Amino acid sequence: MTPLLLLQNVTKSFPIHRNLFNIFSKSSHIRKVIDNISLEVGAGEVMVLAGESGSGKTTLAKLIMGSLTPDNGTIYFEGNDVQNLKKKKKFYSLIQMIHQDPYSSLNPYLKVKDIVMEPLKIHDKELSKEEKLEKVRIALRRTKLEPVDEFLDKYPTMLSGGQRQRVSIARAIVKIPKLIIADEPVSMLDISVRAEILSLLDDLRKSLNISFIYITHDLATSRFIGDKIGIMFAGNIVEYGDIDEVLHNPLHPYTWMLLDAVTFTSKESKFYKTHTGPNISALPSKGCKFYNRCKLSFDDCTHDIQQFHINKEHSVSCFYYKNIVTNADLN
Ligand SMILES: Nc1ncnc2c1ncn2[C@@H]1O[C@H](COP(=O)(O)OP(=O)(O)OP(=O)(O)O)[C@@H](O)[C@H]1O
Ligand SMILES: [Mg+2]
Repeated sequence: MTPLLLLQNVTKSFPIHRNLFNIFSKSSHIRKVIDNISLEVGAGEVMVLAGESGSGKTTLAKLIMGSLTPDNGTIYFEGNDVQNLKKKKKFYSLIQMIHQDPYSSLNPYLKVKDIVMEPLKIHDKELSKEEKLEKVRIALRRTKLEPVDEFLDKYPTMLSGGQRQRVSIARAIVKIPKLIIADEPVSMLDISVRAEILSLLDDLRKSLNISFIYITHDLATSRFIGDKIGIMFAGNIVEYGDIDEVLHNPLHPYTWMLLDAVTFTSKESKFYKTHTGPNISALPSKGCKFYNRCKLSFDDCTHDIQQFHINKEHSVSCFYYKNIVTNADLN
Protein backbone atom coordinates (compact mmCIF):
# COMPACT_ATOMS: atom_id res chain seq x y z
CA MET A 1 0.00 0.00 0.00
CA THR A 2 1.25 3.49 -0.83
CA PRO A 3 2.27 5.28 2.41
CA LEU A 4 0.79 8.72 3.04
CA LEU A 5 4.26 10.25 3.17
CA LEU A 6 7.51 8.81 1.87
CA LEU A 7 10.91 10.51 1.92
CA GLN A 8 13.70 8.94 -0.11
CA ASN A 9 17.28 10.13 0.39
CA VAL A 10 16.32 13.77 0.93
CA THR A 11 19.17 16.26 1.17
CA LYS A 12 19.13 20.04 1.66
CA SER A 13 22.08 22.41 2.04
CA PHE A 14 22.20 26.08 2.94
CA PRO A 15 24.99 28.56 2.26
CA ILE A 16 27.09 29.39 5.29
CA HIS A 17 26.94 33.11 5.91
CA ARG A 18 30.29 34.81 5.45
CA ASN A 19 31.60 36.69 8.44
CA LEU A 20 34.88 38.06 9.67
CA PHE A 21 35.93 34.63 10.92
CA ASN A 22 35.25 32.46 7.90
CA ILE A 23 35.49 34.82 4.92
CA PHE A 24 38.93 33.51 3.90
CA SER A 25 38.23 29.90 4.90
CA LYS A 26 38.92 27.33 2.18
CA SER A 27 36.34 24.90 3.56
CA SER A 28 32.97 24.44 1.86
CA HIS A 29 30.60 27.40 1.92
CA ILE A 30 27.54 25.24 2.08
CA ARG A 31 26.31 23.06 4.90
CA LYS A 32 24.13 19.97 4.60
CA VAL A 33 21.32 20.65 7.04
CA ILE A 34 19.32 17.60 5.90
CA ASP A 35 21.58 14.73 4.91
CA ASN A 36 20.14 11.73 3.05
CA ILE A 37 16.95 11.27 5.06
CA SER A 38 14.47 8.49 4.26
CA LEU A 39 11.31 7.81 6.24
CA GLU A 40 7.70 6.74 5.90
CA VAL A 41 4.47 7.81 7.61
CA GLY A 42 1.25 5.82 7.19
CA ALA A 43 -2.36 7.06 7.40
CA GLY A 44 -3.34 7.85 10.99
CA GLU A 45 0.22 7.25 12.19
CA VAL A 46 2.21 9.57 14.48
CA MET A 47 5.90 9.91 13.77
CA VAL A 48 7.98 11.74 16.37
CA LEU A 49 11.08 13.61 15.25
CA ALA A 50 13.39 14.30 18.18
CA GLY A 51 16.80 15.90 18.32
CA GLU A 52 18.69 18.86 19.68
CA SER A 53 18.40 22.43 18.48
CA GLY A 54 19.79 22.87 14.97
CA SER A 55 19.50 19.19 14.03
CA GLY A 56 17.24 20.09 11.09
CA LYS A 57 13.74 19.24 12.36
CA THR A 58 12.00 22.42 11.18
CA THR A 59 13.89 22.35 7.88
CA LEU A 60 12.59 18.83 7.30
CA ALA A 61 9.05 20.05 8.09
CA LYS A 62 9.43 22.87 5.54
CA LEU A 63 10.62 20.40 2.90
CA ILE A 64 7.59 18.19 3.50
CA MET A 65 5.22 21.20 3.36
CA GLY A 66 6.74 22.16 0.01
CA SER A 67 8.02 25.55 1.22
CA LEU A 68 11.61 24.39 0.60
CA THR A 69 12.83 22.27 -2.31
CA PRO A 70 15.21 19.33 -1.70
CA ASP A 71 18.61 19.47 -3.44
CA ASN A 72 18.49 15.69 -3.87
CA GLY A 73 16.01 12.94 -3.14
CA THR A 74 12.23 12.90 -3.41
CA ILE A 75 9.28 13.50 -1.10
CA TYR A 76 6.12 11.61 -2.06
CA PHE A 77 2.70 12.47 -0.66
CA GLU A 78 0.13 9.77 -1.44
CA GLY A 79 2.56 8.47 -4.04
CA ASN A 80 3.03 11.82 -5.86
CA ASP A 81 6.13 14.00 -5.84
CA VAL A 82 5.51 17.07 -3.66
CA GLN A 83 7.37 19.19 -6.25
CA ASN A 84 4.51 18.45 -8.69
CA LEU A 85 1.74 18.54 -6.09
CA LYS A 86 2.71 22.00 -4.89
CA LYS A 87 1.71 23.48 -8.25
CA LYS A 88 -1.89 22.73 -7.22
CA LYS A 89 -3.52 24.88 -4.55
CA LYS A 90 -5.34 21.87 -3.09
CA PHE A 91 -2.07 20.37 -1.83
CA TYR A 92 -1.70 23.17 0.71
CA SER A 93 -4.91 22.14 2.46
CA LEU A 94 -3.81 18.51 2.82
CA ILE A 95 -0.85 19.28 5.11
CA GLN A 96 -1.20 21.76 7.96
CA MET A 97 1.30 23.01 10.49
CA ILE A 98 0.94 23.86 14.18
CA HIS A 99 3.73 26.10 15.43
CA GLN A 100 5.49 26.29 18.74
CA ASP A 101 4.47 29.80 19.75
CA PRO A 102 0.72 30.29 20.15
CA TYR A 103 1.36 34.01 20.78
CA SER A 104 3.06 34.91 17.51
CA SER A 105 1.32 32.41 15.23
CA LEU A 106 -2.14 34.01 15.52
CA ASN A 107 -2.97 37.41 14.03
CA PRO A 108 -3.91 39.54 17.08
CA TYR A 109 -6.24 41.74 14.99
CA LEU A 110 -8.49 38.89 13.84
CA LYS A 111 -11.32 37.32 15.79
CA VAL A 112 -11.14 33.59 16.54
CA LYS A 113 -13.84 32.84 13.96
CA ASP A 114 -11.89 34.63 11.21
CA ILE A 115 -8.60 32.94 12.15
CA VAL A 116 -10.15 29.48 12.00
CA MET A 117 -12.02 30.38 8.80
CA GLU A 118 -8.84 31.41 6.93
CA PRO A 119 -8.21 28.03 5.22
CA LEU A 120 -11.86 27.92 4.08
CA LYS A 121 -11.62 31.42 2.60
CA ILE A 122 -8.62 30.30 0.55
CA HIS A 123 -9.70 26.81 -0.46
CA ASP A 124 -13.50 26.71 -0.24
CA LYS A 125 -14.59 29.96 -1.84
CA GLU A 126 -17.78 28.30 -3.14
CA LEU A 127 -19.12 27.84 0.40
CA SER A 128 -21.54 30.45 1.74
CA LYS A 129 -20.60 32.50 4.81
CA GLU A 130 -23.06 30.43 6.89
CA GLU A 131 -21.57 27.13 5.67
CA LYS A 132 -18.07 28.33 6.50
CA LEU A 133 -19.19 29.47 9.94
CA GLU A 134 -20.76 26.07 10.58
CA LYS A 135 -17.43 24.37 9.76
CA VAL A 136 -15.68 26.80 12.13
CA ARG A 137 -18.15 25.87 14.88
CA ILE A 138 -17.46 22.16 14.32
CA ALA A 139 -13.68 22.76 14.49
CA LEU A 140 -14.03 24.75 17.74
CA ARG A 141 -16.18 21.99 19.22
CA ARG A 142 -13.60 19.38 18.20
CA THR A 143 -10.86 21.36 19.91
CA LYS A 144 -13.03 21.82 23.03
CA LEU A 145 -13.30 25.59 22.76
CA GLU A 146 -16.76 25.54 24.26
CA PRO A 147 -19.30 27.04 24.55
CA VAL A 148 -18.46 27.85 20.94
CA ASP A 149 -20.48 31.10 20.87
CA GLU A 150 -18.31 32.54 23.61
CA PHE A 151 -15.14 32.04 21.56
CA LEU A 152 -16.22 33.07 18.06
CA ASP A 153 -15.85 36.82 18.56
CA LYS A 154 -12.88 36.80 20.93
CA TYR A 155 -9.44 38.09 19.95
CA PRO A 156 -6.29 36.02 20.68
CA THR A 157 -5.17 38.49 23.36
CA MET A 158 -8.26 37.54 25.39
CA LEU A 159 -7.21 33.86 25.51
CA SER A 160 -4.75 31.81 27.57
CA GLY A 161 -1.76 30.10 25.92
CA GLY A 162 -3.52 26.74 25.94
CA GLN A 163 -6.69 28.24 24.40
CA ARG A 164 -4.62 29.97 21.71
CA GLN A 165 -2.96 26.69 20.81
CA ARG A 166 -6.44 25.14 20.56
CA VAL A 167 -7.36 27.94 18.10
CA SER A 168 -4.25 27.04 16.03
CA ILE A 169 -5.33 23.41 16.11
CA ALA A 170 -8.91 24.34 15.12
CA ARG A 171 -7.51 26.27 12.13
CA ALA A 172 -5.38 23.26 11.20
CA ILE A 173 -8.32 20.81 11.27
CA VAL A 174 -11.11 22.99 9.87
CA LYS A 175 -10.57 21.39 6.45
CA ILE A 176 -9.57 17.99 7.91
CA PRO A 177 -6.06 17.60 6.49
CA LYS A 178 -4.36 14.25 5.94
CA LEU A 179 -1.18 15.27 7.78
CA ILE A 180 -0.42 17.76 10.54
CA ILE A 181 3.14 18.74 11.34
CA ALA A 182 3.22 19.91 14.95
CA ASP A 183 6.51 21.71 15.61
CA GLU A 184 7.00 21.61 19.39
CA PRO A 185 3.33 22.47 19.95
CA VAL A 186 3.42 22.35 23.76
CA SER A 187 6.91 23.51 24.65
CA MET A 188 5.85 27.12 25.29
CA LEU A 189 2.76 26.20 27.30
CA ASP A 190 2.39 25.81 31.07
CA ILE A 191 3.20 22.28 32.18
CA SER A 192 -0.37 22.00 33.52
CA VAL A 193 -1.94 22.34 30.05
CA ARG A 194 0.61 20.33 28.04
CA ALA A 195 -1.03 16.96 28.73
CA GLU A 196 -4.46 18.32 27.74
CA ILE A 197 -3.17 19.55 24.38
CA LEU A 198 -1.33 16.28 23.73
CA SER A 199 -4.42 14.25 24.48
CA LEU A 200 -6.46 16.55 22.23
CA LEU A 201 -4.03 15.84 19.35
CA ASP A 202 -4.27 12.13 20.11
CA ASP A 203 -8.11 12.28 20.07
CA LEU A 204 -8.07 14.12 16.73
CA ARG A 205 -5.73 11.56 15.23
CA LYS A 206 -8.11 8.78 16.26
CA SER A 207 -11.41 10.46 15.39
CA LEU A 208 -10.31 12.06 12.09
CA ASN A 209 -7.56 9.56 11.09
CA ILE A 210 -5.06 12.42 10.67
CA SER A 211 -1.36 11.49 10.54
CA PHE A 212 1.04 13.59 12.58
CA ILE A 213 4.69 14.46 12.50
CA TYR A 214 5.34 15.52 16.06
CA ILE A 215 8.55 17.49 16.48
CA THR A 216 9.99 17.74 19.97
CA HIS A 217 13.05 17.98 22.19
CA ASP A 218 11.14 16.11 24.84
CA LEU A 219 11.43 12.34 24.70
CA ALA A 220 9.42 11.93 27.90
CA THR A 221 6.15 13.16 26.38
CA SER A 222 6.80 11.75 22.91
CA ARG A 223 5.97 8.18 23.92
CA PHE A 224 2.47 9.28 24.90
CA ILE A 225 1.62 10.35 21.36
CA GLY A 226 4.02 8.57 18.99
CA ASP A 227 3.92 5.31 17.04
CA LYS A 228 7.35 5.71 15.43
CA ILE A 229 10.34 7.88 16.24
CA GLY A 230 13.24 9.27 14.24
CA ILE A 231 16.18 10.55 16.30
CA MET A 232 17.84 13.42 14.42
CA PHE A 233 21.42 14.51 14.81
CA ALA A 234 23.09 17.09 12.55
CA GLY A 235 20.79 16.42 9.60
CA ASN A 236 20.80 12.62 9.84
CA ILE A 237 18.22 10.28 11.29
CA VAL A 238 20.59 8.25 13.42
CA GLU A 239 18.01 5.87 14.90
CA TYR A 240 14.55 5.04 13.62
CA GLY A 241 11.71 2.67 14.42
CA ASP A 242 8.79 1.75 16.63
CA ILE A 243 8.79 4.28 19.49
CA ASP A 244 8.53 1.77 22.35
CA GLU A 245 11.22 -0.41 20.80
CA VAL A 246 13.62 2.53 20.28
CA LEU A 247 13.06 4.10 23.70
CA HIS A 248 13.20 0.77 25.60
CA ASN A 249 16.18 -0.50 23.71
CA PRO A 250 18.14 2.57 22.55
CA LEU A 251 21.21 1.81 20.49
CA HIS A 252 22.81 4.96 19.11
CA PRO A 253 25.07 6.78 21.61
CA TYR A 254 23.26 10.02 20.75
CA THR A 255 19.89 8.46 21.67
CA TRP A 256 21.43 7.53 25.02
CA MET A 257 22.53 11.11 25.44
CA LEU A 258 18.99 12.41 24.80
CA LEU A 259 17.46 9.83 27.14
CA ASP A 260 19.91 10.63 29.92
CA ALA A 261 18.96 14.29 29.55
CA VAL A 262 15.33 13.34 30.30
CA THR A 263 16.28 11.60 33.53
CA PHE A 264 18.93 14.22 34.42
CA THR A 265 21.50 11.43 34.58
CA SER A 266 24.78 13.13 35.33
CA LYS A 267 27.01 10.10 35.79
CA GLU A 268 29.73 9.37 33.28
CA SER A 269 28.26 7.57 30.26
CA LYS A 270 29.72 4.49 28.55
CA PHE A 271 28.44 5.79 25.23
CA TYR A 272 29.25 9.47 24.89
CA LYS A 273 31.63 12.07 26.23
CA THR A 274 30.05 14.38 28.77
CA HIS A 275 32.86 16.90 29.20
CA THR A 276 32.69 19.93 26.99
CA GLY A 277 36.31 20.28 25.97
CA PRO A 278 37.41 22.39 23.03
CA ASN A 279 35.73 21.42 19.77
CA ILE A 280 33.92 18.41 21.14
CA SER A 281 30.79 19.66 19.38
CA ALA A 282 32.56 20.42 16.10
CA LEU A 283 31.30 18.10 13.38
CA PRO A 284 33.91 15.81 11.81
CA SER A 285 34.49 16.47 8.11
CA LYS A 286 33.54 12.92 7.07
CA GLY A 287 31.81 9.85 8.41
CA CYS A 288 29.57 9.76 11.46
CA LYS A 289 28.90 13.29 12.72
CA PHE A 290 28.71 12.09 16.33
CA TYR A 291 32.28 10.75 16.12
CA ASN A 292 33.87 13.47 18.31
CA ARG A 293 31.39 12.96 21.09
CA CYS A 294 31.25 9.16 20.96
CA LYS A 295 32.99 6.65 23.22
CA LEU A 296 32.20 3.67 20.96
CA SER A 297 33.85 5.13 17.87
CA PHE A 298 36.49 3.24 15.89
CA ASP A 299 38.11 3.51 12.45
CA ASP A 300 35.01 2.50 10.48
CA CYS A 301 33.15 5.53 11.84
CA THR A 302 35.05 7.82 9.46
CA HIS A 303 33.40 6.03 6.48
CA ASP A 304 30.11 7.19 4.98
CA ILE A 305 27.38 6.30 7.43
CA GLN A 306 25.17 3.29 6.81
CA GLN A 307 21.86 2.25 8.25
CA PHE A 308 21.73 -1.15 9.97
CA HIS A 309 18.40 -2.92 10.46
CA ILE A 310 18.41 -4.53 13.89
CA ASN A 311 14.92 -5.94 13.36
CA LYS A 312 11.78 -5.08 11.39
CA GLU A 313 10.93 -2.25 13.78
CA HIS A 314 14.34 -0.79 14.53
CA SER A 315 17.29 0.58 12.60
CA VAL A 316 20.39 2.49 13.61
CA SER A 317 23.12 4.38 11.74
CA CYS A 318 26.09 3.34 13.85
CA PHE A 319 29.00 1.10 12.82
CA TYR A 320 29.22 -0.32 16.35
CA TYR A 321 26.22 -2.50 15.41
CA LYS A 322 27.66 -3.59 12.09
CA ASN A 323 28.53 -7.08 13.30
CA ILE A 324 25.18 -7.66 14.95
CA VAL A 325 23.29 -7.70 11.67
CA THR A 326 23.93 -9.96 8.71
CA ASN A 327 25.13 -8.52 5.42
CA ALA A 328 21.72 -9.35 3.95
CA ASP A 329 20.19 -6.79 6.29
CA LEU A 330 22.38 -3.93 5.14
CA ASN A 331 20.93 -1.41 2.79
N1 LIG B 1 17.22 29.54 5.47
C1 LIG B 1 18.34 29.13 6.08
N2 LIG B 1 19.56 29.58 5.68
C2 LIG B 1 20.70 29.15 6.27
N3 LIG B 1 20.74 28.28 7.31
C3 LIG B 1 19.54 27.81 7.77
C4 LIG B 1 18.30 28.20 7.19
N4 LIG B 1 17.29 27.56 7.85
C5 LIG B 1 17.90 26.81 8.79
N5 LIG B 1 19.24 26.95 8.75
C6 LIG B 1 20.23 26.27 9.61
O1 LIG B 1 19.96 24.89 9.54
C7 LIG B 1 20.16 24.26 10.79
C8 LIG B 1 18.92 23.48 11.18
O2 LIG B 1 17.89 24.40 11.48
P1 LIG B 1 16.44 23.94 11.94
O3 LIG B 1 15.65 25.17 12.22
O4 LIG B 1 15.88 23.01 10.94
O5 LIG B 1 16.76 23.16 13.29
P2 LIG B 1 15.77 22.58 14.39
O6 LIG B 1 16.14 21.16 14.60
O7 LIG B 1 14.36 22.87 14.01
O8 LIG B 1 16.18 23.41 15.69
P3 LIG B 1 15.27 23.93 16.92
O9 LIG B 1 15.09 22.73 17.81
O10 LIG B 1 16.12 24.98 17.56
O11 LIG B 1 13.98 24.46 16.38
C9 LIG B 1 20.51 25.37 11.77
O12 LIG B 1 21.90 25.38 11.96
C10 LIG B 1 20.04 26.63 11.07
O13 LIG B 1 20.85 27.72 11.44
MG1 LIG C 1 12.82 23.99 14.89
